Amino acid sequence: MKKNSVYIETYGCQMNVADSEIVMGILGNNGYELTQQIKKADVILLNTCSIRDNAEQRIYGRLGNLKKLKSSRPDMLIGILGCMAERLRKDLIEDKKIVDIVVGPDEYRRLPEFIDSAFNGEKGIGVKLSRTETYDDIIPYREDGLQAWISVMRGCDKFCTFCVVPFTRGRERSRELKSIIEEINLLSSRGFKEVTLLGQNVNSYSDAENDFADLLAACAEVDRNLRIRFTTSHPQDLSEKLLQTIAEHPNICKYIHLPVQSGSNRILEAMNRTYTVEHYLTIIDKARELMPNVSFSTDIISGFPSETYEDHLATLDIMQKVRYDGAYMFKYSPREGTKAYKMEDDVSEDVKAKRLQEIITLQQQISYEINQSLIGKEEIILVEGNSKKSDLFLSGRTDSNKIVVFPKSENISEGDYVKVKINRATSATLFGDLVESLYSLDDSPSSIAV
Ligand code: 5AD
Ligand code: SF4
Repeated sequence: MKKNSVYIETYGCQMNVADSEIVMGILGNNGYELTQQIKKADVILLNTCSIRDNAEQRIYGRLGNLKKLKSSRPDMLIGILGCMAERLRKDLIEDKKIVDIVVGPDEYRRLPEFIDSAFNGEKGIGVKLSRTETYDDIIPYREDGLQAWISVMRGCDKFCTFCVVPFTRGRERSRELKSIIEEINLLSSRGFKEVTLLGQNVNSYSDAENDFADLLAACAEVDRNLRIRFTTSHPQDLSEKLLQTIAEHPNICKYIHLPVQSGSNRILEAMNRTYTVEHYLTIIDKARELMPNVSFSTDIISGFPSETYEDHLATLDIMQKVRYDGAYMFKYSPREGTKAYKMEDDVSEDVKAKRLQEIITLQQQISYEINQSLIGKEEIILVEGNSKKSDLFLSGRTDSNKIVVFPKSENISEGDYVKVKINRATSATLFGDLVESLYSLDDSPSSIAV
């Protein structure tokens, strides 16, 4: 009997989630079956992340567990995909011994071949990066659902000095607009209600004829009841044309994830972020001028090399000025091969942790205040299903990606758009009462009262 059942576990960012779906698409086309039961799998694949040291440590920990499973089933294969495959290559196969397959993000088409050779006793290694691979023609494997993620561009050319992504995912390249639109059409006909366009640097998308604003506009027109989100945007490529496109389309979410990383110009320069605080704030102002309700989230790093207390205060200051709805906040983690790795990691672990805690506390306070200010307001949400804590409540998300919980109502189900009046809020969740159910996203007049 051919050994063909594969189990895949995904770590890290949404790009990896989308890549795992591409991998499953490729394996499915080649006669492999996917299993949810790790114990029954002939091949276990971990799609990995290298962004910070703790991400890699977690995967090493998992490999330790799998080693036990493999000792009871020596014929089973273990493979590493994604950024760690690219970064650690032979180390994983030769030193750690338990890994049979190592395949980087641009070599997934050859995965069936690598699995075959690994079953024949040779190690399967494919870690070449490509300037052209976009998996344009691969239909990702997706379960039915409401939300889908589509990677529209791959790689990154920005070379922020702290970041491994340009090394693990290679140069920027974009899919053709046409193939993205076809994919969204397919998702819309399957009943999906929300699509997130993904790229490490999504707004530098370019397919020779179209820029990211053109792509967004075309995606929004496929189905006016399909919400379009996108992530991650780099401030350098956030054009006015793009802001206008977001403003003009009711089904493009008015929510921009715009990593700032630091509020100090000196640190931004050392990070090679290519913008100043002043320029960043101009973008925020412009966006708010065009879209008074636009929300922002961000990424922040504490303790980059040479960061002083004043630099740290400048980060707190920009957080106060922008008032982000949410933030992903990290301690700086040196990554081998990056420019920053050569700088002295001179902010002690304690100081990094203390500054990070101050950043987190401030963000929680701002999120809480923003959410409190929504009490009494009406929000349109896409209903996603029962709330986590109780079957008597439904939950969904606002345009700005906030979770809203409200009492169940008979004629409301998953996938509906509804208007909810907010009556209570914490820093993480809004609570409300149903006002009405909507036929469509863009014309509330045709809504029906419930
Ligand atoms: N250390 C800490 N955080 C990092 N990020 C990227 N590289 C590092 C690093 N070496 C963060 C950045 C980026 C997010 C995806 O991860 O904030 O925007
Ligand atoms: Fe990394 Fe900077 Fe590229 Fe983002 S823009 S993936 S932080 S190099």
